[in-house]
Amino acid sequence: MYETIRYEKEGKIGIATINRPKALNALNGAVVADLEALISEVEKDTELGVLILTGEGRSFVAGADIGEQRDFNLDQARAWSKRGSALFRRIEKLEIPTIAAVNGFALGGGCELAMSCDIILASEKAKFGQPEVGLGITPGFSGTQRLPRRVGIAKAKELTFSGKMITAEEAKEIGLANAVYAPEELLNAAKEMANSFLKNSPVAVKYAKVCIDRGMQLDIDSAIALENEMFALCYASPDQKEGMTAFLEKRPAVFQ
Ligand code: COA
Repeated sequence: MYETIRYEKEGKIGIATINRPKALNALNGAVVADLEALISEVEKDTELGVLILTGEGRSFVAGADIGEQRDFNLDQARAWSKRGSALFRRIEKLEIPTIAAVNGFALGGGCELAMSCDIILASEKAKFGQPEVGLGITPGFSGTQRLPRRVGIAKAKELTFSGKMITAEEAKEIGLANAVYAPEELLNAAKEMANSFLKNSPVAVKYAKVCIDRGMQLDIDSAIALENEMFALCYASPDQKEGMTAFLEKRPAVFQ
């Protein structure tokens, strides 16, 4: 049970809804603590196959809680930035696929939270942005690093220096969001995508995530060597035998 997050499981899909709608789900200490506890639970849950993150009401997350951090000194600011960044890195490094179902505002820490997920699906009502410079700060939960990696340096600089909000469609155009849905269809679309991952070998999906995430940070030769190794490791898993045998026997594969 969490104070600021509703967490439900539907089979192998975990759905976490950030639930502080009066403050547009802004990340205060309580939400960050709940997210930390939730990610610990998810890390330990060997049954879980996909995690979906979404927000209650008209916002996904409208950034860090401005009221709570206005009077930070340098040490508090540094600690806050490290804490949020460490949390988002743990989300990024979860072994299972993660989907941000962005139902509304994804600003500042909200955009950074979405970017720590593998996939971003957006409602037509979603708005994305890194408005921090308008508050006299830089993004602090790794947005300056993940945004250029997602959308390229030029667009990342334009968005970060202007602080402007963009629509779901614009987010899709620049490759920030994977797809845009009517608000009432968003969660089902996220579950459908989750199920399209879950029908495959969980081991192979996990290894593919490692290859893409680690490989993108390496030089091409090291990244290819990593892929070669992960490909070989698949052959140590029963999933490979089952996947290929099922194909040859013209039947659906049944993975563990
Ligand atoms: N921190 C703290 N409170 C926040 C917040 C944040 N990041 N974002 C919204 N809220 C609160 C508002 O203060 C308001 O509270 P109140 O009803 O007690 O006055 C409530 O959420 C609703 O927000 P409001 O601004 O009235 O809604 P709006 O529809 O007019 O505007 C936004 C919505 C998202 C455009 C606007 O709230 C906003 O710009 N928020 C800050 C976004 C931001 O800069 N994030 C980065 C933070 S580092």
